[in-house]
Amino acid sequence: MSFSDLSVGSELLGYRVEGLLGRGGMSVVYLAEDLRLRRRVALKLLSPALAGDELFRERFLAESELAASLDHPCVVPIYEAGEADGRLFIAMRYVEGSDLKQLLRDGPLTAERTVGLCAQVADALDFAHERGLVHRDVKPSNVLLDRREHVYLADFGLTKRLADPRVGVLRSRRRRVLLRPRAARLRARRAPCRLDVGGVGRPLGRR
Ligand SMILES: Nc1ncnc2c1ncn2[C@@H]1O[C@H](COP(=O)(O)OP(=O)(O)O)[C@@H](O)[C@H]1O
Ligand SMILES: [Mg+2]
Repeated sequence: MSFSDLSVGSELLGYRVEGLLGRGGMSVVYLAEDLRLRRRVALKLLSPALAGDELFRERFLAESELAASLDHPCVVPIYEAGEADGRLFIAMRYVEGSDLKQLLRDGPLTAERTVGLCAQVADALDFAHERGLVHRDVKPSNVLLDRREHVYLADFGLTKRLADPRVGVLRSRRRRVLLRPRAARLRARRAPCRLDVGGVGRPLGRR
């Protein structure tokens, strides 16, 4: 069974695939049934290449735990995350509807809708930032929408805890540079939160 093409009805990790929801650069998301709890979930499988990257693997597992601790109405609830058969996966709430990428493709949004969507994304980010978590990948396809345009912000997978000294791992000319914890915390507090804030307005601002 290949990573990129699971057929309807195939079972893995206690889930049965019902269909394909979409693909990202390094991931594929399926609509699936959780066979233990008999509920629908979105099952995200990451490229097997990522499980082989030790640093990514460690971060993914640690950060999934942090992301799962976020309990906010505008953040996608994570049900399970882990590694099985050399493959990293996340099972999360299935958001039946669309995403902001699709919505923007359909045409311009009114000012009122734009404000409503931005406010929900900002609220979710505010909540995460207050708890020391930064999203780092706020983009239209990560803003999931149910049929009433309630926002669920997805993919806190690259999140780092601000207080975590490991946040000081920087890449410079292909080398990893470790910052002292205090310097790392200061940098982390300023830069990534700004990154998230910029991410809220950028896609909608073009409209
Ligand atoms: N929890 C979810 N519920 C419904 N659809 C989802 C969910 N998570 C992701 N998707 C869909 O799957 C697609 C691929 O997601 P992803 O692999 O995160 O890549 P990207 O965010 O880069 O597009 C997204 O466009 C989104 O619409
Ligand atoms: Mg995504």
